[in-house]
Amino acid sequence: MEKISLWMTNRENSRLLSESLDNTYKVVVAKSFSDVTSVDLIIVDGVTLNSSRRELELLRESKIFLPILLVTSRNDVKMATKELWKIVDDVIIAPVERNELLIRIKNLLKLRYQSERLRREHWVLTDSSPIGIAILTGGKETYRNPRMDRILLGKSFEDVLKGEERERFTVFCKRAENNREPLSNLFRVEVNGSTKWLEMVACQIDVEKEPGIIVMTQDSTESIRTTSELVKTQQKLQEAFVNALNLISSLVERRDPFTYGHQRRVTSLAVKIAESMELKKSDIDTVKYASLVHDLGKVVVPTEILSKPGKLDETEMALIREHAKQGYEMISELKIDLPIAEAVYQHHERLDGSGYPRGLKGEEISIHARIIGVADVVEAMSSHRPYRAALGVRAAIDEIESGSGRIYDREVVRHCKKIIEEGFAFEEEFEI
Ligand SMILES: [Fe+2]
Repeated sequence: MEKISLWMTNRENSRLLSESLDNTYKVVVAKSFSDVTSVDLIIVDGVTLNSSRRELELLRESKIFLPILLVTSRNDVKMATKELWKIVDDVIIAPVERNELLIRIKNLLKLRYQSERLRREHWVLTDSSPIGIAILTGGKETYRNPRMDRILLGKSFEDVLKGEERERFTVFCKRAENNREPLSNLFRVEVNGSTKWLEMVACQIDVEKEPGIIVMTQDSTESIRTTSELVKTQQKLQEAFVNALNLISSLVERRDPFTYGHQRRVTSLAVKIAESMELKKSDIDTVKYASLVHDLGKVVVPTEILSKPGKLDETEMALIREHAKQGYEMISELKIDLPIAEAVYQHHERLDGSGYPRGLKGEEISIHARIIGVADVVEAMSSHRPYRAALGVRAAIDEIESGSGRIYDREVVRHCKKIIEEGFAFEEEFEI
């Protein structure tokens, strides 16, 4: 049963009303303000209205809608001014007819329930929302939910957005004013000396016929920090990976002093060619890492054969040729995302199928292997070998040019020649 509070100065009127309502509602005769705060409806008379106006105004300002019904004599009708309607929800003229009174009360209680339902829906959508919500009308903030207040620690947007970020936010809001589709952007804010990253989504809305925007925000500081930590970890892993490749590279070369530094020198030229050809970063990385370990498979070739002066026989040649496959198998074990193992496998293949170990042709050979193949030949011919003196860079260029488009990739040769003519020189110590 709903509770109705009678807050009236005229005791006789209060008693009469109490009698008429007693069987339908739980009636509380209020003596002070504290008796009217936990009821469903308040009935006041003109005297209480005047003497307790401030308290009634306070009830009006509270979030919960509590209907106030004024019972007054005809002489007081002139009180029904605009000011009066700010406090009371309905006026009934005494003497009060019971049915009329019950209808008025029923309607006011209906309003209370509707208002309560709306308030609950509003609470679910905004007050309890895990996302900060604000409404800006004509550039001024006219509403914010508790979450937005917590994100901004009670500060205004102007307070937390500094310099360039504030300008970006102004432009963002202007664009949102003309957009029904939500726009989103990330803003850096300074709140109480600490930096936060807020992801904001905004679009145009109509607020009581005025154009405005709704801004929704969530604090993305933590996820951005995690992402940047992830990037740092990836960089460290990348460094560790390159160090490991360098180590593997120097281990294999130590077995053969004549080719010490060969893989690193090939890498320096191969990377230049890949960059000159404007390959994408993952391809340049593949060229870099694969050329650094392209002869890894030579660890299974006996040292005597590797450093043997003079010509090798068929068996020895076959053993040396095994290194491409051996390298492929070893690097495959590393389970690297980039096709490094495959590039190592193919670095002695030639366009016309005359290479080894599989005799691949043309497009069957990856661009990485085609680049490493050319850089390998140029480096080998430019350097001293146990079985011959260095032939020089000029001879190396002649060799790749004569095989351009036939055994070597035409574009790779063109870029390689250009790089060397522009002054490229192999360095003994090459930093990867
Ligand atoms: Fe090789």
